[in-house]
Amino acid sequence: MRKKIVAGNWKMNTTPAEGVELLKGVAALKGEVCSCVNFIVCPPFTHLSEVVKVAKGTGIAVGAQNCAAEAKGAYTGEVSTQMIASLGVEYVILGHSERREYYAETSATLNKKMEQAYANNLTPIYCVGEKLEERESGKYFDVISAQIKEVVYNLSAEQFAKLVVAYEPVWAIGTGKTASAEQAQEIHAFIRKVLAEKFGAAADDTAILYGGSCKPGNAAEIFAKADVDGGLIGGAALVAKDFIAIGKGFAK
Ligand code: PGA
Repeated sequence: MRKKIVAGNWKMNTTPAEGVELLKGVAALKGEVCSCVNFIVCPPFTHLSEVVKVAKGTGIAVGAQNCAAEAKGAYTGEVSTQMIASLGVEYVILGHSERREYYAETSATLNKKMEQAYANNLTPIYCVGEKLEERESGKYFDVISAQIKEVVYNLSAEQFAKLVVAYEPVWAIGTGKTASAEQAQEIHAFIRKVLAEKFGAAADDTAILYGGSCKPGNAAEIFAKADVDGGLIGGAALVAKDFIAIGKGFAK
């Protein structure tokens, strides 16, 4: 049985105090959702310490949105996985398209970040996805396959067993445009096939999340697809009742 996951990527939103309120709101409503759903919230670094404390006992896990590619040292402004993990954080989002696009993250950087994540027992949520022009030119299978092969293929079997993957078509992120459930399923099945070429049957157990304008109104249809195991939610994760409503996309 694959894990069902609904993860919130808060991006650069909320103050720490607002973040704590948001988490409390999610925790208060969580009982309305199937206990089969694993909720994760990924606030900014500044919030992690307090959010982990408040999340304790709620069954909601906490993730970071990024981490340093190095273990420690003279890297002004960076935050290491040791620092993050020491707070009780369990996950880290890596390879988000905004990091790839605005901060020039390459597969080489991401390989180092993955190594750091595993070195400190953080579970990576590794994002892949094509840009609009790559979808329109039909190159998207090649793009996604390369994003997987250049990074995920370097993991050991033991590391791979922990990995969570998120498919986030860049043209659907924050745009209000969502991939159709059929488009999502097509790519999720493709991702699983590419993973299986390297890791065999273990790929059947990998949670693959959909991200990109996932909302209460479309979550159930997308989550119903065979290879979709949940969502990585941006905008809608900033409103507790919407985030919870997305969780309800999995039948109770
Ligand atoms: P969105 O963002 O739900 O606002 O489209 C998703 C993401 O980037 O993780």
